Formats: sequence, C-alpha cells, structure tokens
Amino acid sequence: MCGIVGYVGGQECAPILLDGLRRLEYRGYDSAGLAVHSRGKIDVLRAVGKLRNLEGKLREVPLAGTVGIGHTRWATHGRPSEVNAHPHQAGDVVVVHNGIIENHTALRKQLQASGCEIKSDTDTELVAHLVSRRVAGGLPLEESVRATLSELEGAYAIAVLSVKEPNRIIVAKKASPLVLGLGEGEMFCASDIPALLPYTRDMVFMEDGEMAVIEADKVTLSTVEGQPVEREAKRIDWSPMMAEKAGYKHFMLKEIFEQPRAIEDTLRGRLDREGGDIYGTEFELDVAEIKRVILLACGTSHHAAMAGRYYLEGLARIPTVVELASEFRGRDAVVLPGDLVIAVSQSGETLDTLIAAREAKEKGAKVLSIANVLGSAIPRMSDAVFYTHAGPEIGVASTKCFTTQLANLLMFSIWLGRRRDVLSAEKSAALVEGLARIPQQMAEALKGTRQLCANLARRYVEARDVLFLGRGLSFPIALEGALKLKEISYVHAEGYAAGEMKHGPIALIDSKVPVLVLLPKDEHYERSLSNLEEAKARDAQVIGIATEGDEEAREVSHNLVEIPASLPELTPFLTVIPLQLYSYYVADFKGTDVDQPRNLAKTVTVE
Ligand code: M6R
Repeated sequence: MCGIVGYVGGQECAPILLDGLRRLEYRGYDSAGLAVHSRGKIDVLRAVGKLRNLEGKLREVPLAGTVGIGHTRWATHGRPSEVNAHPHQAGDVVVVHNGIIENHTALRKQLQASGCEIKSDTDTELVAHLVSRRVAGGLPLEESVRATLSELEGAYAIAVLSVKEPNRIIVAKKASPLVLGLGEGEMFCASDIPALLPYTRDMVFMEDGEMAVIEADKVTLSTVEGQPVEREAKRIDWSPMMAEKAGYKHFMLKEIFEQPRAIEDTLRGRLDREGGDIYGTEFELDVAEIKRVILLACGTSHHAAMAGRYYLEGLARIPTVVELASEFRGRDAVVLPGDLVIAVSQSGETLDTLIAAREAKEKGAKVLSIANVLGSAIPRMSDAVFYTHAGPEIGVASTKCFTTQLANLLMFSIWLGRRRDVLSAEKSAALVEGLARIPQQMAEALKGTRQLCANLARRYVEARDVLFLGRGLSFPIALEGALKLKEISYVHAEGYAAGEMKHGPIALIDSKVPVLVLLPKDEHYERSLSNLEEAKARDAQVIGIATEGDEEAREVSHNLVEIPASLPELTPFLTVIPLQLYSYYVADFKGTDVDQPRNLAKTVTVE
C-alpha cells in the first residue's frame, strides 16, 4: 500500500525523503510526491509512476528545506495521476495519507456546498481542506488536525504540514501503520521500519487513536482526545543491509535464499532438544479451555494456515477449521466458547485478517497471532503473539515468511499436543530433532535444486497453464506453488488436491501443460504417484518433486527434482523451495517486475 516518510531536522530533507520512499517501494505504488517547507511557503512536487520520475522532476526543480514529507500512492480513490498523487495542498496546509476515509462522499458534498474547490478525486484532499479551514480561522495546526480527525471515519495514517508552523509535522494514526524515528537533533516518521533504518534504530510505534507533534529535538505523543502519552522507544536491530538486496538480482531471490537463516532465527530459543518439547511460556493459554482452533488468514498466509490445520489436527488432535479472513468477517460466523483464533499474517496489518480476528474476539474467542512485523496491528489486538523472525520481507511475493509461519504453526501444534497429552514424547522428540535439522536441509535443497529449477523454467517458460498437485500436507504447498507462479509471472496456474483431478480438472491436461506433482515419502506417496501417471497418460509434461534417491519417481517423471529426506511433517519446508525457485525463474525469464508485480501490494490494508 502507500508509503509515508517525514523528516524534521538540520539536513536537506528531499534526499532523505526520497531514500525513505525507495525503501518502501515494496509496498506497491503508482505515483509519488514530496512537500518541503521552503522560506515561508511549502513546495510540492508530484509524479506518476516510479520514483525515478519524481527524481527527474526534482533535478529540474530542486526542493530546498529541512522539514518535509513524502508519499508513495497506491490508488484507491481516483486513478493514478499527478493530480491524485499526494501530497495534497489546500491553502496553507499539505497532507499525505495512507488508508481510506469511509465518509468521503458526505465530506466532499459538505465541502463543495460551502464553496470549496476540490481538485482531485481523492479522499485525502478533503482532509487537507478540513484542516486548512481551521488553520485559516486561527487555530494552531495540532488543534486543527485534532478537530478534523473527529470528523473522519475509516482508516488513516496522516502527516500534515502548515506554512504557518514551519518547524513541525503533525501525524496521526488509526488502523494504518505509523512509526516515529528518534535521531540526534532530527526526527522522522514513516509507515514502515525499513524507511528509517539508515538514519536511526530507535523507534516509537504509534497506536490507533494517537497523534504526535514531530520537531527536530522531540516528538510529543498524545491521544486524539488530547491526553499525553508516554511510550518508550524500541531499539530495532535490523541492519540496513538486511533490508537491501545483498547482491541478489531481486529481493525475492534473496529472500528465498535467506530461508535457512530465517527458520533458524524463528526456531531460536524454542526447541527444547533435551526434553523433546517446545518452549512456549508466553502463550499463556489455558490449554484445557481450548476446544477448537479457527485459523484466519489471506493469500500465502492462508496456505500456511491450511498446513497448520494438518499439524493441529494430526499432532494436537484438536478440531480445527481454516477460513479465508475475507470470507469469515462480516458473515456472522459461529464462534463457540473455547474457540482459539490463530490469525496468520506476515505484515500483521492485512485489513481482512485484522477485522476477522477482531470480530471473533468480540464474540469471545481468544486470539493468538503469528506475524512478522513487530508491533503491527494484529499482534497488538491479540491475547498472545508468536512472532516469526524472518526479518523484513521486501518482495511482494511471500517466501521466507511462509516457511517461518509453517515453523511457528508446527511448533505450536507440538506444544499443544504435548500439553493435551495426545502427542507421544517419542514423536515430539523426533519432530524437534527434525526441525533442528531443517535449516541445513533447506540450504541443501536451495543449492541442489537452483540450477535445475532455472533449466525447467527456461524449458516451460512459454507454457500458458501450469498445474501443481499435492495430497495431504502437500496440497497447501501445491496451492502456494500456483500462487507464486501466478503473481510474479502472470502465467495461469492452478493448485489442486491431487485426488480431486479426476473430478474435473483432468480435462485441462494436454501436451502443452506442465504438471508439477509433489511426491514426498509420506502416507499419500503411492496415490500421488498414480495421479502423476494419469497426467502423463494424457500427454502432460510431468515434473516430480520427490525425496532424493526415489528411483520409482525418477522412472515415471519427465523431470525429477530431488529434496532431502525428512519426516513427513517436515516435507513442506523442502518441497516448497523448488516451487518458489521455478516461479522466480519463469518470471525472471519473462522479464516481469518480480519484486513488485503489477496490481499487487505487499500490505493489503484496503477492502
Ligand atoms: O501480510 P499478510 O500475510 O497478511 O498478507 C496476506 C496476503 O496478502 C499475502 O500473503 C499475499 O498473498 C502475498 N502476495 C503472497 O505472496
């Protein structure tokens, strides 16, 4: 979604704002702009398209000044255009905004009726007018923003400048992320941590319903109602390098290769190898009270949640349902006493997941969230949080966050299974040992399959349709493989439960369709092999993903990708790797924008 950066200090701010916006590019955007205080006025520059267009304009019309705000816009109200790009100016006031003002139609009518000339189609410009009228009436900027917020319904993170108060930025937050960065004689704000990492590691996470006045030597937090708020800064230990490409062609490729490290960090301090158990003290859940688990998520996180159901049912013997958050919310779903909701979200900000979890909580469910972004909205509303430690994921296509989500879901299932007395000590110990080996095995799988996946991608790059098949735990992995290919290469792909093929999709198969079949050695192996044969008998190009040394799979597949042997529960960590690599290389050969695929955004905070 959109990105916000703000700076107040002693340095020329335009380069800092641009640099921050560049670090937020992963959020997806279609236009960008800057506003800088400059000797008694505010200069605004906006451009459609990538940041380089804005940079080009800046070279022609430099913005000089040490206080300013920047924005990357992902269109919600009004098409991508310069006039709709942020910042929006009204009189002495300039505003950037992330989120959606839900009562924009009523506000627009009201402003127009009072003679206001509105230039853009955006909801944001309305906010600028509302604040500007109050400033023009003599109210200080902070109070003008405060009063305006009481008129707004919906979600926002806003940053506001006024010509009359050149040394400060006023920011406010409700349901869209905003973080404040504390420097020495300079202060920052941004919609996400990576924008600020080169400048400061000390950050304050704003809560919903809060405002802040940002000045060079201090930030002053308060509630929208005007109550002072004291909050300690958190030290963020991500290095700027962690948020950069580290020599890889794309963030996505870097993140695929970071998976062994990401899993290692996520397992750190969790595996009780001596006791064959999982440390989970902070769950603070009354296990006896949990009667059912409802997993809520979207997209890739939903695929991890689907795998989570196999873990929870198989290892903890607890009834479990998985729901698309967008379908759960608003349908008045039944929540029973003893329901535990697990909300799975990389960003922790996905609106559908947030609202679905909130609805379930209001109906009495306890909420445990699995998230990657510290201090994001979903963890904040949860009763307990189980963070993944993947580090920042910049590529829009989720990879390392998917596998770290799997790790947390598996660890939680082992923990619960032991406490419910349904998972034997031997099985638990074997899983813990197996998990401890997973980072090394993932590294082997990455090394062993990279070139082969690139070759396969080259061979099938022109395929218009691709099928991914799997059974049991491999079914969500097949879905994930298909989603990866679709979103970054724009090739039509379907993931299917292999047993479902004969009920319809088999009609799609002909000699032009590559079919990737997941064949790990588990209880489904023989039947999945038969499904591969069925596809082959209909002339499909079949690619088996099987355990190393599996001669039977090699014999029947046109191409075989081998992964290290592991316990059946651990195979998803390994089978997903060739699917991620295959998708990556198809997209790379096609020359698509791998890290920022068209129409997609990293954090989906709209309906
Ligand atoms: O941040 P979340 O995990 O809640 O995001 C959910 C989906 O938007 C996300 O997984 C999306 O499907 C990714 N582009 C997948 O690669």
